Amino acid sequence: VMKTNVLRVWYVPVLVLCLNAAEDFQWTKNNPGSFYYGTFPAGFLWGAGSSAYQTEGAWEEDGKGPSIWDVFTHKKGKVYKNDTADSACESYYRVKDDIQLLKDLKVHYYLLSISWPRILPTGIKTEEVNEMGIQFYNDTINSLLDNNIIPFVSLYHWDLPQALQEKYGGWQNASLINYFNDYANLCFETFGDRVKYWITFSNPWAVAEEGYETGKHAPGLKLSGTGAYKAAHHIIKTHAKVWHSYDKTWRREQQGMVGISLTSAWGEPMDLSNQDDIDAAERYVQFYLGWFANPIYRGDYPEVMKEYIGRKSAQQGLGLTRLPIFSAQEKSYIKGTSDFLGIGHFTTRYITRKNYPSVQGPSYYTDRDLQELVDPKWPNPGSKWLYSVPWGFRRLLNFAKTHYGNPLIYVTENGVSEKIYCIQLCDEWRMEYLKGYINEMLKAINDGVNVNGYTAWSLLDKFEWNKGFSERFGFYHVDFQNKNKPRHPKASVQYYKKIVSANGFPNLRQVESWYYKALETCSTTNQPVSEDSLTTHMEMVTEIVVPIAFTLCILISAVLLAIFLQKCN
Ligand SMILES: *[C@@H]1O[C@H](CO)[C@@H](O)[C@H](O)[C@H]1NC(C)=O
Ligand SMILES: *[C@@H]1O[C@H](CO)[C@@H](O)[C@H](O)[C@H]1NC(C)=O
Ligand SMILES: *[C@@H]1O[C@H](CO)[C@@H](O)[C@H](O)[C@H]1NC(C)=O
Repeated sequence: VMKTNVLRVWYVPVLVLCLNAAEDFQWTKNNPGSFYYGTFPAGFLWGAGSSAYQTEGAWEEDGKGPSIWDVFTHKKGKVYKNDTADSACESYYRVKDDIQLLKDLKVHYYLLSISWPRILPTGIKTEEVNEMGIQFYNDTINSLLDNNIIPFVSLYHWDLPQALQEKYGGWQNASLINYFNDYANLCFETFGDRVKYWITFSNPWAVAEEGYETGKHAPGLKLSGTGAYKAAHHIIKTHAKVWHSYDKTWRREQQGMVGISLTSAWGEPMDLSNQDDIDAAERYVQFYLGWFANPIYRGDYPEVMKEYIGRKSAQQGLGLTRLPIFSAQEKSYIKGTSDFLGIGHFTTRYITRKNYPSVQGPSYYTDRDLQELVDPKWPNPGSKWLYSVPWGFRRLLNFAKTHYGNPLIYVTENGVSEKIYCIQLCDEWRMEYLKGYINEMLKAINDGVNVNGYTAWSLLDKFEWNKGFSERFGFYHVDFQNKNKPRHPKASVQYYKKIVSANGFPNLRQVESWYYKALETCSTTNQPVSEDSLTTHMEMVTEIVVPIAFTLCILISAVLLAIFLQKCN
C-alpha cells in the first residue's frame, strides 16, 4: 500500500518537471522568421555519432587495457554521482541492435571512435596487440557496411591508454607522437581497405583544456597556463605525422581521407560598434578553433595567441613564452595536413573585452583578455553551457571558410541535451534545435561554405564525462538503471529521419507536418518508458517521500501510544 502511494505522490512532480523543461525552451524567440526552405546539394551525407568510452562499457573485457578515463572515473569525487562508464550503454555487446537503430534513422554513415587501449592495452604496439579488440572493430565495421552504413572512424575520442599516462605524463610528452602513429598505422593497415573517413583526434581542445588545464577531465591535471598548450602542441604534431603516414603509405591503395575534428563555440561581439569587442570575439574563436586549425591550415598558431600569451608570459617574468614554438621545418610539415576539416559545434557566447592583471597567474582563460556572456533569452534546455543559438553556427562555418581557404568540411558533432529528471520522449527542444542548426548550415552552404556532411550528436544517451549520466544527448533514450540498457526512440528520431529523407527542408507544409507526426509517435511510445522511469526514480522518491512518511508514522504512533497509555491508566 505504501509503495503505490509513493508512486502516486511522485507521478505528479514528474509531469510538472517535464512541462517545466518544455516551457523553458522558448525557441520561437530565437528564430525570428528567417527560416530558409530548400534542400542540400545532391550527395550530401547525413550521419549520427558516438564515442567508444561513452557507450561501449566492457571496460576490462577481452583483453582491453585501462584508459585514463577508467582510472579517472574510478576515483571518487571526479564525476557527478561518482558515475563510471564501466558498462555505459553496453554497446560492446549490442552492435547489431545499434546498427538497426541507425538503419531506422536512415543515416548514411555512423561516426564511431576506436578505443586505443582496446587494441593496444599498453598503448605501445611493440608490447602487445589485442586480437580480440581488433576483431571487435573489424566486425563492427563489417556489420555497418553490410547494412549500407559508411563507417566514419575517429582514432582518438579521449580514452588514452593509462600506461602512457603513467610512463610519460600523457600528452605532456613528445614520446606519444610515435606511439600514436604506430597505432594509427595499425588501424589503417587493418581497417583501411574498408574505412575511407578517418579522424585523428576528436575535440582536442577539450583534451588539452579539460585534461591538462582545469583537470575536470581525465587525466585530471591542473597545469594552469602551460599544460594545455603543451598537450595541444604534441597533439597537433601527432596529427600531422599521422596524416603524412597515410599520405605516404596508404593513400594510393586505400583512397580515403584523414582529417581532424575540432569543436568550437562561436563568439559574437557584444557590441558590434565597439572595436575592442570585435577584436575580443575574434580572439575567442582564434583561441578555440584557430589554436588547432591555424597550424594545420596556415602553418602556425594564430598571431593573437602568440602575441597575447607572449606578452603575458613576459609580464609574469618568464624568459620564454608559455606557448610552445614550431620550428620552420615543423611549420611546413604541419601545414596542409588535413583532407577535410571536421567541425563540432554546440553553442555561442557574446564576448566583450576584459583585461586580466598578469599577477593572477598564468591561465588559458586570463591569457585571452575577454569575458563570455550569454543572452538569458537563449533557450537552454539541457547542459548548463549549451544555449541554443542557431545563427552562431552559420557564422562559425563562414569563419572556417574565410580563414582556412574554403576547406572541405564535415560537421562531426552537433546536438543538444536534456535534463536528467525529465524522462521525456517528446523531445521538442531537440527537434527545434536540429531544425534551427541544420537550417543555418544550409544557409552557410548557400554562402559558399563547402560542407559535405552532418553528424547529429548523438545516437544514444551516453556517459557525459564529468557530468556522468545526468545529461542526455541521444536520439534514443537509454535506461541506465536497467541492466539490459533498453533503448527507446525519442520523437526526434522521426524528425531527423524526415530531414535526411528529404535532404533538407522542402517547404513549410511538409516541415510542419513532420513536427506534428513526430510528436504523435512519441506519445504512443511513451508508455513503456514511463514505467521504467518511475522505477528509476524510486531512489529519489524514497529519499524525499519516505523520510516524510516515516516521520508522520512515528508521530501518529506516538499519539496513539499516548492515548493507549492514558486509557490503560
Ligand atoms: C562520491 O564519493 C565521495 C568519496 O567517497 C563521497 O564523499 C561522495 O558522497 C560520493 N558521491 C555520491 C553522489 O555518492
Ligand atoms: C576483417 O574483415 C575482413 C572482411 O571480412 C576480413 O577480410 C579480414 O580478414 C578481417 N580481419 C581480421 C583481423 O579479422
Ligand atoms: C618524456 O618521457 C621520457 C621517458 O619517461 C622522459 O625521459 C622525458 O624526460 C620526458 N620528457 C618530458 C618533456 O617530460
